[in-house]
Amino acid sequence: MSLLDVRKVSQHFGSLIAVNGVSLTVEPGELRAIIGPNGAGKTTFFNLISGFFPPTSGTIVFGGADVTALPAHKRVAMGMARTFQITEIFPELTVRENLRIPVEVAAGLRLRPWLSRSADGEIRARIGELMDMSGLTAKADRMVGELAHGDQRATEIMMSLALKPRLLLLDEPTAGMGDQETYDITRLIRRLHREQKLTIVLIEHDMRVIFHLADRIMVLAEGSVLDEGTADEIAKSERVQTAYLGKAA
Ligand SMILES: Nc1ncnc2c1ncn2[C@@H]1O[C@H](COP(=O)(O)OP(=O)(O)O)[C@@H](O)[C@H]1O
Ligand SMILES: [Mg+2]
Repeated sequence: MSLLDVRKVSQHFGSLIAVNGVSLTVEPGELRAIIGPNGAGKTTFFNLISGFFPPTSGTIVFGGADVTALPAHKRVAMGMARTFQITEIFPELTVRENLRIPVEVAAGLRLRPWLSRSADGEIRARIGELMDMSGLTAKADRMVGELAHGDQRATEIMMSLALKPRLLLLDEPTAGMGDQETYDITRLIRRLHREQKLTIVLIEHDMRVIFHLADRIMVLAEGSVLDEGTADEIAKSERVQTAYLGKAA
């Protein structure tokens, strides 16, 4: 059974058709990419998958259940995690404190007045694991707001991962980053996919990131699917080169 099955979803904003009958099937363990020029409807498509608003038409099936009418928080509870184009972290808290929040939520221990020593130990161990995985250990006690953009993004990705999602949706995780940070985040995403077997759908505008990561790529343009295929197929697609590179160049 597919983990995610999006069937012909559309989103109209007044007379604008931001997403026009787009379908996407994601199998467990896959790393899928969505690319396309600015304004193609990529973020809106993510908003529909994650339940920000219901689609004008179409259906969304997640883990075998029709979630089309479910609000975002119910989808999160079912194992759908998402990061945004703008980083969502608590800048005044340290890396460790930021991670502690979703780790406690995942353990069902959030908002308990006190924790047993063993529960606290497990939570610390899990936070340590997440920091090791992402190379954040040396920055554990730094305020996240003071960190470089790439480390903030890594913290945010690990906060999503702490919730043990079945599906991770990443909207332009390398937006606004320099070459080194882009490389680091790309490497982190690849590790989460390969080592943690995490299923990921990634929106990205940086072609280099995509071609190093994704199993399959879907190209959106003006709300519609322009092409779909492996990295090699997309790299050779004339339709994609004309529409995508023509506008981005
Ligand atoms: N909430 C909204 N209300 C009205 N128009 C929107 C809204 N969100 C996105 N749009 C429009 O939908 C189109 C697709 O936007 P978006 O999904 O953000 O594209 P992308 O992420 O591919 O750059 C754009 O023309 C954008 O202006
Ligand atoms: Mg966008």
